[in-house]
Amino acid sequence: MQMTVFGTGYLGATHAACMAELGHNVLGVDVDEAKIASLTKGEVPFFEPGLQDILTRNIQAGRLRFTTDYREAAEFANVHFIGVGTPQKKGSNAADTRYVKAVIDDLVPLLSGDHLILGKSTVPVGTAASLQKRAKKLLRTPPNRAPHHDETAENTDSPAAPATVEIAWNPEFLREGHAVEDTLRPDRIVLGVRAKNSRAEEVAREVYASALAEGTPFLVMDRPTAELVKVSANAFLATKISFINAVSEVCEIAGGDVTALADAIGYDERIGRKFLGAGLGFGGGCLPKDIRAFMARAGELGADQALTFLREVDAINMRRREKMVELARRVLGGSLIGSNVTVLGAAFKPDSDDVRDSPALSVAGSLSLAGANVTVYDPKAMENAKKIFPTLNYPNSLEEALRGADVVAVATEWKEFRELDPARALELIGAAAPAEEGQQDRPAPAVIDGRNCLDRATWEAAGWRYLALGVG
Ligand code: UDX
Repeated sequence: MQMTVFGTGYLGATHAACMAELGHNVLGVDVDEAKIASLTKGEVPFFEPGLQDILTRNIQAGRLRFTTDYREAAEFANVHFIGVGTPQKKGSNAADTRYVKAVIDDLVPLLSGDHLILGKSTVPVGTAASLQKRAKKLLRTPPNRAPHHDETAENTDSPAAPATVEIAWNPEFLREGHAVEDTLRPDRIVLGVRAKNSRAEEVAREVYASALAEGTPFLVMDRPTAELVKVSANAFLATKISFINAVSEVCEIAGGDVTALADAIGYDERIGRKFLGAGLGFGGGCLPKDIRAFMARAGELGADQALTFLREVDAINMRRREKMVELARRVLGGSLIGSNVTVLGAAFKPDSDDVRDSPALSVAGSLSLAGANVTVYDPKAMENAKKIFPTLNYPNSLEEALRGADVVAVATEWKEFRELDPARALELIGAAAPAEEGQQDRPAPAVIDGRNCLDRATWEAAGWRYLALGVG
């Protein structure tokens, strides 16, 4: 099939490359010339495991191209995906849908023939219907058939052929770090259509033929339900994480261990162990802004009370970041001023270079504002982190990052941090060396496990003070 994908960020670029990988002819479209130039050269402008390979392979095979030209896109295909961002609106909790609207405004007037637009972006419920109305106003109308019209005259302006547009919603559920796998082999395909027997269903069956052949559940519903499926899924995941983090707060006071607790409740199939990872909480480009946008939309619709609990979910999540800073302050004897704190991790989760609303970076920033000399190390997110907090120290290696640290805070559970040898880490921070003059009283170095990803016993046996979120 021929198709376009509007937006070439984490979602759009992955979707475009994966659709090509499935054998479709794909044109990726973006207004950002730098992104398009980089993708055209076969370079992924962000880190996503496996994406580079399929991008290169499909560009070489001639199935994948990129452009900033909307006219080219309008002529290239009759099926268009929208994968642009819907960030949080400045000064509000609501989602900013201006980029989605801009795709409709700039694309629809250029269309002729019958087109299907499949929205993938996460949007407030009701967006698809309002875009459908917006598109209707922008559509080319049939050429004027007034009686004086000369049908035989050659018109070099070529009167536009009439166009129709159907807008359907086809939310994505991909996780960064697993985006390729999640797109090629989704756990379900959801499609919200305008009416029963819509052409969208037939087209979607063709687009996703390989996944459907493998038995992937295909759920066709109305558009509002499809829009709500996505935000409800994310709200549920966020709630699950905040639930265990709320229990963490109690464990800390009562002397419990939240990881042992999560293991124990997770064996109950109705609960399940996934997304019960207690620690610094959720961040990234989706969960935080999606729960806020969901609350804002419910308020607009007059269902304010329905989602007030998500405010608490958000608050619990944010408190974890403060707790991490408090632990560092406590371990340093009450003040962070002049201390050397190394934060391991800047990305909002491992296997990603995304620092949008990253708990790790938020902690690093707060420690710095409280007077600590903060060094941040992340295997992939250093460049993105520097753009947000340019004044922190960004060493070239993990070894360099550890040198001279008074406290090491693990804020993102990258494999290389989880597998860090505590004895070697002790050597690196310089604590294993004979105490320098005046340093005899230096307290044992501390590690704060913000993701419950280190083995407490091994770290303590190596001579570290071990602190963690959710441990009393
Ligand atoms: C999420 C949804 O999972 C995905 O379906 C949706 O399409 C987009 O939003 P993503 O933001 O890539 O995906 O990351 P996810 O793996 O869900 O993690 C989100 C955050 O929750 C991360 O900051 C992660 O560290 C945190 N998290 C996750 C926990 O704190 N504990 C857990 O047990 C799991």
